[in-house]
Amino acid sequence: MSFVAKMSSTGLLLVLSIGTGFWLSSYGKPFNSALFNIHKLIALATAIYTAILVRNLLKGIDTSALIQIMVIALGLSLIILFGSGILLSLGKAPYNLIKTVHTITTFSTLLATVITFYLLLINRS
Ligand code: HEM
Repeated sequence: MSFVAKMSSTGLLLVLSIGTGFWLSSYGKPFNSALFNIHKLIALATAIYTAILVRNLLKGIDTSALIQIMVIALGLSLIILFGSGILLSLGKAPYNLIKTVHTITTFSTLLATVITFYLLLINRS
């Protein structure tokens, strides 16, 4: 698969995760269970796919400190997204705070993904 195809497929999965997230939110509580499962499964696929892809792209190249920082930021954002997503679904933690964390880390994940792929792209050329 070409680098562009890898970038686009990650982007598509991320857009689907974000889209199903806002769609799920728009129905309010209690969560629509079908949409909740779709959101969870797409998010899981996104995280696994992105992790495998970035790991493979990092193999055998000299990584700058900036790439390493962005990869760590991406990993942390995904972990916090999953943690806050689980807390939201359990409904036991402070709702507004956790929802804000989930929304903010959605955008930090998006930003870290774009910057990581951009750095990997210019590193290859
Ligand atoms: C790639 C990972 C994920 C992304 C990008 C993502 C993104 C989003 C977004 C953008 C929203 C809408 C937030 C808003 O309305 O301000 C949302 C809502 C939600 N997400 Fe996720 N999410 C991810 C993973 C997960 C996981 C793993 C879970 C559960 C285990 C989860 C559970 C939820 C729940 C329950 C809501 C509804 C919140 C509410 O409206 O009260 N998310 N997600």
